[in-house]
Amino acid sequence: MGLHEHDHLKIPYFQCDLTDFARTRRLIRDQQPDVILHVAAMTNVDGCEADPAAARLGNVVATENVATAAASISAAVIFFSTDYVFDGTEEGEYEETDRTNPVSTYGVSKLNAEMALRAANDKFMIVRTSWLFGLHGRSFPRTILERARTQKEFQVVCDQIGRPTYTRDLAFAVSDFIKTRGGNLAPFCGEIYHIAGEEIASWCDFATYLLKTACFEGVSVTGVATEDFPRPARRPRNSVLSTAKAADKLGITLRGYKEALPEFIAELASDKGLEIS
Ligand SMILES: NC(=O)c1ccc[n+]([C@@H]2O[C@H](COP(=O)([O-])OP(=O)(O)OC[C@H]3O[C@@H](n4cnc5c(N)ncnc54)[C@H](OP(=O)(O)O)[C@@H]3O)[C@@H](O)[C@H]2O)c1
Repeated sequence: MGLHEHDHLKIPYFQCDLTDFARTRRLIRDQQPDVILHVAAMTNVDGCEADPAAARLGNVVATENVATAAASISAAVIFFSTDYVFDGTEEGEYEETDRTNPVSTYGVSKLNAEMALRAANDKFMIVRTSWLFGLHGRSFPRTILERARTQKEFQVVCDQIGRPTYTRDLAFAVSDFIKTRGGNLAPFCGEIYHIAGEEIASWCDFATYLLKTACFEGVSVTGVATEDFPRPARRPRNSVLSTAKAADKLGITLRGYKEALPEFIAELASDKGLEIS
């Protein structure tokens, strides 16, 4: 368990094993926050498929623990959920009220986490986001850039679409939203909001634009169908979240991936001298 002041967001950031209720409750009671941003999760989608118990522990139990401990001090919880709560069979964009039907163990566990949160704490906001990329952790663009260093040509799935979302944009938008309201989220609580980047892409579009932006001349990407790229967990074909409610009710819109990628690439390059091309 530890505290780190986030460099840019200027909000306290804590690490604690959230599957341990006693420690989670102690941390929350000691800190007495008005608002908790609950971001931590078991995010390995294929790993969740292989180990449903770990998915449940890391996503459902951890969220229940945070929600219960937060409720005991009347703190609000903003929980980050996912586009993978949908099955992807709809045409068009998914609204917050659309029927959920996750097709993976990860998606089921995040949906169950949403329900656990609702049951344990009235003061919640559920933020569903999608296709995150950022400096920390594994992400699709990182994988593509690493592959481009060794391969001149490779295949990427072209029949799944979604909204790539830059983690910096999401983090700043949500923290600004909280700060401008002085931590009082009451008018916005009890609801789901879809917050994601403005531009829609397939993984193949995203990879192609990334390589062009990072100046990987001579590396080409070929689109393949999901069937030709078998993975342990199913993914929704259509992951496009409608972001209209977040724009209207919260005043939050996030730029699209084409505008965000140059900043992400610069951030990667300046981080410990990572070589981009
Ligand atoms: N990635 C996406 O495309 C995407 C899309 C939609 C929604 N989301 C949601 O957005 C959030 C962030 O996703 P991400 O991909 O950025 O996550 P990530 O890089 O995998 O980071 C998850 C973090 O959670 C921590 N964590 C896991 N289990 C924990 C536990 N029991 N107690 C405390 N910390 C724990 C991990 O710590 P360690 O590193 O120490 O394990 C890690 O720092 C998640 O809630 C995810 O479901 C992600």
